Amino acid sequence: MHVSTTISEWLERRAALEGRLIGVVPTMGALHRGHAALVERCKRENEVVTVTLFVNPAQFNDPADLQRYPRTMDADLALLAGLGTDEVFAPSAGELYPNGYALRVVNDSFAKEMEGRCRPGFFEAVMTVVLKLLNLIRGGRAYFGEKDYQQWKVLHEMALELFLPTEIRLCPTIRAASGLAESSRNALLSPQGRAQAAVIYRALTQAVSATEARAELEAARLRVDYVEEHWGRRFAAAYLEGIRLIDNVPLENAKCSSAST
Ligand code: PAF
Repeated sequence: MHVSTTISEWLERRAALEGRLIGVVPTMGALHRGHAALVERCKRENEVVTVTLFVNPAQFNDPADLQRYPRTMDADLALLAGLGTDEVFAPSAGELYPNGYALRVVNDSFAKEMEGRCRPGFFEAVMTVVLKLLNLIRGGRAYFGEKDYQQWKVLHEMALELFLPTEIRLCPTIRAASGLAESSRNALLSPQGRAQAAVIYRALTQAVSATEARAELEAARLRVDYVEEHWGRRFAAAYLEGIRLIDNVPLENAKCSSAST
């Protein structure tokens, strides 16, 4: 496994890979079983597995959230080596944003809903960094988790609209036995918090409506940003122990399907 930390180093590696089928898993590190599943799928479907590790400051609208975001580089590299990753690209912010953050990608439609509404600028920052990464990696396929379904949808749309050569693939959410979706932020919860957080999946799947799911989360003392239904799925975002967690399920997995927008 080779780790590139500068763009020039990566471009040298990339030149040697010309003609091979390259898959990429963009991440912000703090890797968990969900990321491992993305890397495994990438390995099955491509000749070269590339993982990017970059905590993108632009997508954190709360500086405290950026500061406490888990950084576990040594463990991440050990996990990736064990999974048979070929290439890791882990640039600094100075490498990726040499001219600051003046130029960005904007989507004025569904990127304004849910995560886009609650975290102003979030999807602009995600689209901008992913576009930069995809342009550098120039892989045939990029892999994203279903837990961040809206992110996948926004990136999928961006790839189509900008005629990117990379296909944006969606992979199933990996869950704990309790139903809690794997997330880097789970590491910030106490053991009790992690057990309590399973209420999100329960509410998403067991409530008969988004309104009832919201009431269940509030009854469990979570601070709810939204529970909404779109694109045949039910979505939730809520705070527990000050940590913001998101999840979603297809409506066919929920107790009662209601009309979705
Ligand atoms: O899902 C993530 O980890 C990030 O939003 C991504 C796609 C790596 C962009 O920074």
